[in-house]
Formats: sequence, structure tokens, C-alpha cells
Amino acid sequence: MKSKQHPIGIFDSGIGGTSIWKEIHQLLPNEDTIYLSDSKNAPYGQKSTQEIVDLSIKNTEFLIDKGAKIIVVACNTATTNAIQQLRANYDIPFIGIEPAIKPASLKTKTGTVGILATKGTLNSALFEKTTSNLSDEITIVEQVGEGLVELIENGKMYSEEMTYLLKKYIHPMLEKKCDYIVLGCTHYPYLLPQIRKITVDNVQIIDSGEAVAKQVKNVLSQRNLVNDSANKSSNVFYINKDKSVLENILKDYKNCKIDFLDF
Ligand code: DGL
Repeated sequence: MKSKQHPIGIFDSGIGGTSIWKEIHQLLPNEDTIYLSDSKNAPYGQKSTQEIVDLSIKNTEFLIDKGAKIIVVACNTATTNAIQQLRANYDIPFIGIEPAIKPASLKTKTGTVGILATKGTLNSALFEKTTSNLSDEITIVEQVGEGLVELIENGKMYSEEMTYLLKKYIHPMLEKKCDYIVLGCTHYPYLLPQIRKITVDNVQIIDSGEAVAKQVKNVLSQRNLVNDSANKSSNVFYINKDKSVLENILKDYKNCKIDFLDF
């Protein structure tokens, strides 16, 4: 039986899910967290559904062993390909993340919404189901962000290669008059300043990070699992590749411990 004091478990194929961790930590600063960055196996976006399911199961079991009271699948690719299987396998609440195309489609004025996500997310049955439920008047411009996750994972976030790829992916969306661009991968919020330089002022760029944090809070409240102790939270990050990129991304957070894990 899990208690309020148990940690929130979070995993991603890499360091991108820290964009979700930051939202959760801001909303629930008293909660202990355990984050697993499976960077050795990134990117998940090019893998088969079965491979993504298998890796997600492995990550989940690691977090359950560490005592997680809830698991946040901080990866659109793992959510859209594996969350049903995870929910069927384990008796623990799971919170996933999906591209925010529904809210974007309700707000667009041009009727055209761009989505930048991994191949695995865009090809998933869950994504297909979500898009098929949108109004016929909405056009979705899908773009695979090939190469972006690798550059971020390899510490090349601010490289010429990144600028080249972002322009290549975003310009066609602007030409097709997208006024909303959905970031459908948890690594991409780190690219926001660079994407803003490419888009014009009237293009909104949205992601689902804040909504996920709120959902974590709701589910913990419903189950009476919110940690109400006044102690400082403990936040442990495990990564199975070079720690330095993760250290850099978390440099403004003092209460984080980052450990290499042979996983
Ligand atoms: N952060 C993952 C996501 O949200 C990246 C996927 C990948 O590793 O390709 O989809």
C-alpha cells in the first residue's frame, strides 16, 4: 500500500521529460520525485511499438521498485504506444502525456494546426484516434522532428544543425498558415526560444506540460496521496548515459541528485 510519503516516479526516453518534472516540481514542491532518463535507448521515436512497450515496462518496474506511488510517463512516444499496456499490467496510477492538438484545434483561427512530434507518436493508434475525433474543418500539418531528440541528448541544443532542422520543419507549417504549433515531444519545450525566433508573433506554440502536472495533482488528491509534510523534497535523477547534459539542464535546481545507472 502506497503512502503520501512515497515518491512520484517519472520516466522518459531521455532528458526531455525533465520539462515535465519542472512543471510537477513547481506545482507540488513537497513531493519527492524519482526520474529515470533512459538516454542510452533514446530516441524511442524510431522504434517499433513492441520495443517501446518493452522499454516502458522496464522503466515502470524500476520506478515501482523504488517505491513510486504514481508513475508519470513523461514521454509522448511512450504514452501513445504503451500506456494502455502499462495500465493493464500494473495496479498503480499512470499519468501520460499526449500532444495538445485538441486545445489547439479549438483555438485556431486559421483552422490549420501544426504538430511537431516523433514518428512513433504520429504513427500511433492513440494519436490517430485523437485526430479522427477533431472537426472536419481542422487541418493538421504533421511533421516528424527527426534528429531533434538526438541533438538535445548529445548536448547540441544550440548548434547550426539544430537551427537548420528547426527551420526545415517549421517553415512549411508557416507557409500552410498554421497559427498554432503543438510541441508533441517532451524534449521540444527546450527548443522554444529557438522556435520563437523562426515563427512570427501571431503563432502560438503550446505543449501539455502544465496540464500533466495538474493532472498529477488531481489524481494524487483523489487518492489522498498528496505529500503534506513540510520537509524539503528529495529529487533523484537516474541516467544510463553521460550525466553532464542532465546536470546542465538542472543547474538552477539545488535539491537534485543525479546518479549514473547501469540500466
Ligand atoms: N521525450 C520523448 C517524447 O516525448 C522523446 C521521444 C524519443 O525518444 O524519440 O516523445
